[in-house]
Parts: sequence; structure tokens; C-alpha cells
Amino acid sequence: MGEAVGVFEIAAPVPGETAMSEKTQTPPELCLGAGFGAETPSGDPCVMVIFGASGDLTKRLLMPAIYNLACDRLLPEQCAIIGIAMDDLTTDIFRERMTTDIQQFSTRKQFDPAVWDRLVKRLYYTPGKFDDAPAYDKLKGLIAKCNVDHKAEGNVLFYMATPPSVFGLVSKHLEQAGLTKHDSAWRRIVVEKPFGTDLPSALELNRDLLKFWTEGQIYRIDHYLGKETVQNLLAFRFSNGIFEPLWNHKYIDHIQFTVAETVGVEGRGNYYERSGVLRDMVQNHMLQMLAYLTMEPPSSFRPDAIRNEKSKVLEAVRVMTPEDVRRDVVRGQYGPGRKPNGTPAAGYREEASVNPQSRTETFAAMRLYIDNWRWTGVPIYLRSGKSLWKRETEIMVQFKKAPEVIFRGTPAVNHMEANQLVFHIQPDQGIEFRFQAKTPGPLMQLQKVNMRFNYTEAFEASRGTGYEVMLYHAMIGDTTLFSRTDLVEAAWRIAQPLLDHWQSEFPTEFPNYPAGSWGPKAAFDLIERDGREWMEIINRDVLGKVPLFQSCSPVFLNSVAMMLKPDVYETGDYIIRKGETGTQMYFLNRGDVEIIGDEGKIFSSLTDGSFFGEIALLTSQPRTASVRAKTACNIFVLDRVDFLKVLKDHPQFADSVLQAARDRYNVTGPVTDASE
Ligand code: BG6
Repeated sequence: MGEAVGVFEIAAPVPGETAMSEKTQTPPELCLGAGFGAETPSGDPCVMVIFGASGDLTKRLLMPAIYNLACDRLLPEQCAIIGIAMDDLTTDIFRERMTTDIQQFSTRKQFDPAVWDRLVKRLYYTPGKFDDAPAYDKLKGLIAKCNVDHKAEGNVLFYMATPPSVFGLVSKHLEQAGLTKHDSAWRRIVVEKPFGTDLPSALELNRDLLKFWTEGQIYRIDHYLGKETVQNLLAFRFSNGIFEPLWNHKYIDHIQFTVAETVGVEGRGNYYERSGVLRDMVQNHMLQMLAYLTMEPPSSFRPDAIRNEKSKVLEAVRVMTPEDVRRDVVRGQYGPGRKPNGTPAAGYREEASVNPQSRTETFAAMRLYIDNWRWTGVPIYLRSGKSLWKRETEIMVQFKKAPEVIFRGTPAVNHMEANQLVFHIQPDQGIEFRFQAKTPGPLMQLQKVNMRFNYTEAFEASRGTGYEVMLYHAMIGDTTLFSRTDLVEAAWRIAQPLLDHWQSEFPTEFPNYPAGSWGPKAAFDLIERDGREWMEIINRDVLGKVPLFQSCSPVFLNSVAMMLKPDVYETGDYIIRKGETGTQMYFLNRGDVEIIGDEGKIFSSLTDGSFFGEIALLTSQPRTASVRAKTACNIFVLDRVDFLKVLKDHPQFADSVLQAARDRYNVTGPVTDASE
């Protein structure tokens, strides 16, 4: 039988044919992304004022983004950047600091000193406390000077790299200094999340901002909207006719959003203690993606046409009752565990600036419903967490299964699975469609296969910080990628019942997942209760870490990856019971198990990367020992039916499993099931 590759890649463009080819003036590796071609005009002339310019955001993200824009000729020549913060710096010192920092934080492969030299001459600094009125007068003077020196046409972009608590205060002073009103030139303000910590504070923050600015002047950044793959959700949905007719409750079974991070709180304990994953990721980034995926087609690409539809769909998300929260939401907190590379990882409560009895959630999973005609009855599952086993942001749309009728009586009926459309947001960037195909051979047998589009193969991928696109859009006055008052409030309305309920019912079980694992078992129970399962992206890299699979061909790993099913066990759970006739083999991705014989005697323990239960794939004999989870365990399960298929196509893998079984169980003689 031929190799069941199951991967139909869309061909990458021939070199030289992409918009970002060597033919363009800018070398390809220096371009920001497919959206910014050589023909893209630069932003409007302006003076950019960064409040909080001596902080981390400026050196790590804003300045590298401004530098990237300059390299890509998207920063207008008539532009100056003024930093303002409490630190008592001079313009010279600020320029020196930025020159040192850019070497460390630039995202480009090669640093271009000529571009930086031109840019650094346009940086200025003025010290000032946020509540110090004379500092604003000085700032006003500096803006006026920069405006003349750099021909900025009077436009001013204020960037608040500060905590939200000072947005109102700074705005008040700017207004008093006469710096907020549009005249012949524009004035805009860019603000960073969090936009409040709950619904009442968000309403208050919005009221505060709207006292001094009009809605059209406020640019609320959600950096997920700057991601190419997130923007592509709209492009994909509305520029391809094929899926839109299917994009509703008649054809879609459910939708999953996963934003998993391997990092813990990374020194941000102070902030995170007051935030938690619901405020940090779900209320903003995840609901923004949900809105893109589920909104109605806008009447045009005008910013407000898009934002109106986003707002409408968020308003249609069912607001949970306390009972809904109890049933449909799971929260988690990581305890000590292991990093993906196997080294020890601290639990959340041991992180710096975290309360040792903290109740802050670092993981959440939930089931939502959108009560409108398009989505009625379609469950939408969301999960996000820190210190998980793998970094991945994925959206999976699962279609309803085809009727099995015509396959009845064929072996294929056992393999009927639903079609899935997967949006790989990061770090993999692409779109994948999973469907079934007949495996070569005389019988009607099916196997799951996929078609995949990879961003990096089709386009020059973005090498930016993600802030370039946001700054650029703020400079050209396009608010599409920024959040609006009603959107922020609608998102808080969804999150508020969870916050309220969690406030009243303290978690007793925290920490409930080890760092480096797949998250709490309850998150798996949540979806499995509905007869569904989380899609884990098990790729070759993951499988390559299982010793049994090392040295297996990529083709083989691809087909196995499509067959494995993830499962989670808690300490003390039995995975295998002695005497039962099993049909599954287990790969231990994370955790420890113990092998238990008669009278509870423990024979041995297995840990990460081990496998067990393989005998059940080979014979129909009862299990000879029990296996119990010694710690929380994350396990890939391989079913016998799937194994038999792999066996036919990859006999060398079967040999390894057989050899392992022989060594472990003294299996001799023919392996009946496998040879059928
Ligand atoms: C930020 C959160 O908004 O997004 C962080 O505050 C999180 O906690 C980050 O790590 C994730 O962003 P990205 O782009 O790495 O997915």
C-alpha cells in the first residue's frame, strides 16, 4: 500500500512571484508582511507623544515597531516622537538609552544604522509627572517646536503607555493645555488594555475618556487584532464564497478557541494577581477573535461597519446565570510542575509578588452560546491558560457529521468523523481543513487527512512586534483594528457574571494543574460531557519527543498525529485495570504512572515519554497489570483500529512496538489481531 500522506499542501508561490519578492526595493526579510507592499503610503505627518516613555513597553515594543515602520518607509519623514515620563531624563540621555535598547529589542535580522541615525534625531524627551500642570505647558511648547521643525502639520498622536488609572488625569491636563481638540489638524489618543477591571470600572473609564475625547479620537489597542492571522479571519470568511453558506447552526456542530501559553506570569505577579486569565486574555483577545469568527458580514470594510457587526454579535452572547457559570465554566491555577524542556517549573503561588494563598485563576475554560439566528444552539468552547505544555492559539470549527447511511456495513463506518476547519493563529500560522479520504486498497476504508495552507510558505511572514500595524493605522486614522466603547462594554457584560460568581465561591481545589501540563481535568470533563473533545494539535515535533517515535518518518508521524486522542487523568485515577480486555495503547506525554500487580503491589513507575498498554493492540488477552496515575497525567491514546491501519502502512513501527511488547511481556508467537 502506498504511503497515506494525508497532507495536501497548497503550493507556495514560485520565488519572485510574491508581492515581497527580491524585485521589490526592500529586501524581503525586512518587510513587515504581505499587507505592506512597496506601494503602501506612509502614515500622516505627526508628532507622537508617548506617556510613560521610560517604561518597558516603549523600549520592548513601541520603539522597535517605530523603527520597523521607518525601515519599511511607513513612518512619515515629517514625524517626531516625544517621550514623557517621571524620570528626570534629557533628550540626549533618552536618545542614548533608546539607541542601546534598540540593539536588544529590534526584531529585524539586521540592524540598519542609517535608518536608526535618522530616526534617533527625531526623538525628544521632556520629564513630567502626570498631575503636574506646568509639565503639560512644557510639553505643549515642545510639541509646537517639533511641529515646526519636522513639518508635522499640527497632527498629534498621544500614546498612553501607562496604567489606565491615569488615562482620565492625563486627558484632563491635555484638555486644559488645549491639546485635545481637532482643529485643522487631528488629535488622537491610543490607550492600552486593561480597559477596566470589570463592567462598572470599564463604564467609568469610558465615561472619563469620553469627557475629553470623541469616540473617533480614541484608539483602544488589542494587539491580537494586529496579528495577520486574526485579520485574516475576516478576509477568509468574506472573500471566499465557499464557507459562508455553511457558517451557521445548520452545518456547524461547535467551535473551539484555544489560547495556550507555556510561560507563567514572568515577573508580572503584581499585575496578574489583580487580573487572572479571564481579564487578561478572555475578555479581550479571545472575545475579539470570537467576534471576527461569528459576526454577520459587514456592509463594507469601513471601520464602523465592521465594529457594528462585532458589537452586535458580542451583545448576542448569552449572559450566564450563576448556575450556568457553575456548570459551564472551569477555572484553574498552576502548581509546581515541569517546563516543556523537562526542567522544574514553579507553581503560581511561588511566583514573585504572588500571594501564597492566591485564588487568582491562571486557566479558564467555558462553554458559551450566541443567541441569534445564525448560531442558536451551537456551543462555543473557549480555553486559555498560562504554564501549559505547549504554546498555541487555534480556532477550530467543527462541522456536523455526514450521515453514515451509505457506509453502513463497511469498515469505513467506524471512522466517520466530522470535518474540521482549523485556523492556526500562532505560532503556526495557517489554515487547515480536515476531512476523510478512502485509503488505497480493495476495501472501503476511511482515514482522516488534511489540506493545509501555511503563511510562511505563501507569504513573507511578518517579523514585527505586532505594534507596527496598530501604530500605522492610528497614524492614518483607520479605527478598524481598535476597540470601541460599546465593544468593550459588551465584552465585560459577558465576563461579569463569571467574576461575580468567582468572587462569591472561592476555589478550594487550587492549584489544580501542574505547570507544563494540559490544564485541569475538569476542562476536559466540561467538553466531554457534551460528547465532544478538545482538539489538541499534536504535530510531528510533539510526537518526535516520544522515544518510540524517534527516527520514524515525517509521513508516518503525520498519520499518527491525526489518530491520537488526548486524555487527562488525575492523581489516583486508574488508566488500566488488571483483567480487563483493553483496545488502547497509551503515550505518557506528561506525568508519572505506577504499574500495579496483585494485591496492590507496585512493580514500577513510568514517566514522561513512556508508553504502556501496547499489548492490547496486539492481542485480545486481559490486561496483566493495572496502571494508576501517580500525578496528574496527560496521555495520548492510540486505538487498536487505528493502530492496525498504521501497521499496514508502516510495518517497521509495528516491529518496534512488537519488540517492546516482547521485552516487556514475553509475548511470543503470532499476533493474531494485527495480522488480520
Ligand atoms: C497580553 C497578556 O495581553 O497578551 C499576557 O497581558 C499574554 O499575559 C499576552 O502573555 C499574549 O500575547 P501573545 O501575542 O504572545 O499571544
